[in-house]
Amino acid sequence: MMVVEGSVAVITGGASGAGLGQARVFGRAGARIAIADVRDEPRRTAAAALREEGIDVWDVALDVTDRAGFAWVADAVEDHFGAPVTLLFNTAGVNGFGSVETMTASDFDWLLGVNLGGVVNGMTTFVPRMIEAGQGGHIATVASVGGFEGGRMTAPYSAAKSAVIRLMESYAQALPEYGIGVTVLCPANIRSGIAESVRLRPGTVSEDSGVMAGEGFLDALREVHDHGMEPEDLALHLKRAMEEGALYCIPYPEVREDLERGFGRILDAIPDVDELAPAAAAERVEALARFRESARAGARPAPAT
Ligand SMILES: NC(=O)c1ccc[n+]([C@@H]2O[C@H](COP(=O)([O-])OP(=O)(O)OC[C@H]3O[C@@H](n4cnc5c(N)ncnc54)[C@H](O)[C@@H]3O)[C@@H](O)[C@H]2O)c1
Repeated sequence: MMVVEGSVAVITGGASGAGLGQARVFGRAGARIAIADVRDEPRRTAAAALREEGIDVWDVALDVTDRAGFAWVADAVEDHFGAPVTLLFNTAGVNGFGSVETMTASDFDWLLGVNLGGVVNGMTTFVPRMIEAGQGGHIATVASVGGFEGGRMTAPYSAAKSAVIRLMESYAQALPEYGIGVTVLCPANIRSGIAESVRLRPGTVSEDSGVMAGEGFLDALREVHDHGMEPEDLALHLKRAMEEGALYCIPYPEVREDLERGFGRILDAIPDVDELAPAAAAERVEALARFRESARAGARPAPAT
């Protein structure tokens, strides 16, 4: 059972949008909140607004791609609140639309670096600490429904979010034995400032980049996000999923049909039988079952003698 009241929570990307919604909802429920965000002014403004509400909040500068910075933040948050972190929200993220034919390697570096690398840094920084502290807790990571299907205008983002979903499924197999729950939130559209994230791209977006940054396009994107789910509502959905111990939180009924079609296409690619070599297929199945059995036996550390 997840404990919120009195817990210490770190929220990356907590200065805006989904992260700020999480800070409000979990802060009101009694968590002590550290918002870690790369943008100084929005982070301080968000912290001031949360404090005004009576939420115990501390804001700290963090670029999630900075591994050493993450470790520093983990120590600093623990020192500040005098207790280990038991709630982690990997929420920071950026988006950049652009045709896959024109996306450059540095576009991929940026979008994969923040959206996937940032989550890897969060997990590898906090998971060992949470296990060591022995107090259990919960980790929520924000992916996207975009992670369930590729798109020609969203290739690096979709690739990163897809990887994040698989990453959290992997952690979800390991962490419950330490009392740590895992939830992956897959939003479709949030009323947030993500249309501005092109400004966070290192270097200029116009050079060596296929990311669309023209004002006309950004205005259209802002318009879409103006109609997105309210961050606090999203955080309430997330909180409920975490309390229920659910791995997936996808609180958007409108995406069901698309996902059914997408998963259906994948399943349709699987034949009922391997007509070319049915005997070899049977051997493959047996070999895999043997491997799984030995992997299961080896997955747990041997008991100390
Ligand atoms: N907006 C949507 O419709 C939507 C849909 C699906 C998923 N998401 C995901 O939701 C999450 C939150 O985004 P949002 O929509 O609330 O956008 P947002 O821009 O309002 O908030 C994201 C925050 O992350 C911070 N950030 C960006 N790069 C960072 C970095 N390198 N290090 C630390 N902080 C950084 C930003 O400063 C910002 O405050 C992201 O992971 C995003 O991919 C958003």
